[in-house]
Amino acid sequence: MAESLINQSIVIIGGSSGIGLAVAKLVAQQGAKVTIASRSKERLGKAAKDIEADVQIGMIDTLDESSVKEFFASFDQIDHLLCFAGDSMGGGVLNSDIATAQNAMQSKFWGQFYVGRYGGTKIKPTGSLTFTAGSGPRPHQAIATVAANAGVSLLAESLAKEIAPVRVNVVAPYYTDTPMWSGIAADSRQELFERVAKQLPIGFIAKPEDVAPTYLHILQSTYLTGITIPVNGGALLQTIE
Ligand SMILES: NC(=O)c1ccc[n+]([C@@H]2O[C@H](COP(=O)([O-])OP(=O)(O)OC[C@H]3O[C@@H](n4cnc5c(N)ncnc54)[C@H](OP(=O)(O)O)[C@@H]3O)[C@@H](O)[C@H]2O)c1
Repeated sequence: MAESLINQSIVIIGGSSGIGLAVAKLVAQQGAKVTIASRSKERLGKAAKDIEADVQIGMIDTLDESSVKEFFASFDQIDHLLCFAGDSMGGGVLNSDIATAQNAMQSKFWGQFYVGRYGGTKIKPTGSLTFTAGSGPRPHQAIATVAANAGVSLLAESLAKEIAPVRVNVVAPYYTDTPMWSGIAADSRQELFERVAKQLPIGFIAKPEDVAPTYLHILQSTYLTGITIPVNGGALLQTIE
């Protein structure tokens, strides 16, 4: 059954930017009561204006267990909880900086672990929890991120049983044009996106709006749990160099 989101309370960790912000806009348009949360009050304020609906904001740092615990202590019951917070890294096992690799695992895996642990128990039995991973594998390219993504899928499978009947799922995006890439110079980023786009069956790099409908599909699909949905323009059908 496709569930209505009207007046449903939806909490979006990492809803101030990129894919999370696109999902926040989409569910607000569907009539949900949306809370977006992240580390920067300034970014949250800008995002809230951009969403053009009555949105609540909250402060949370998913790298810090006590921050996650404190954030969820203020909630009574949530209909749907989604998490987008997570840092990525480049590099393989032999050439990556260890501290950066550990941060990627801490951020992407442990951050979502804390969200599942402290937020999962606040979700109504009819509700859902959706994590964000990434499409892989990409050996030599981002090993800690790829490992964290695999861990997130297993985390969801476990929680789908531990907090059942709450549904727990994962979306795995691929290259998506968001502020996550702002650390790379504009011309290099353009070059990278063009090179990847040429090799994708779909022929272009996703915008956040191309990925967001998959999250909506999960929220509204009352029989979907314990799965990871890749949204990757067909990337795994061929090798991307
Ligand atoms: N873009 C891609 O190509 C791509 C590909 C595959 C997977 N993904 C995954 O998709 C997710 C969203 O990425 P995006 O591209 O939309 O990135 P983005 O535009 O940089 O957005 C990330 C969001 O997460 C928040 N955030 C980051 N670290 C946080 C923390 N420790 N605690 C709380 N909030 C935090 C950010 O806000 P603050 O900075 O204010 O905290 C922001 O709202 C990430 O998990 C990313 O790894 C992205």
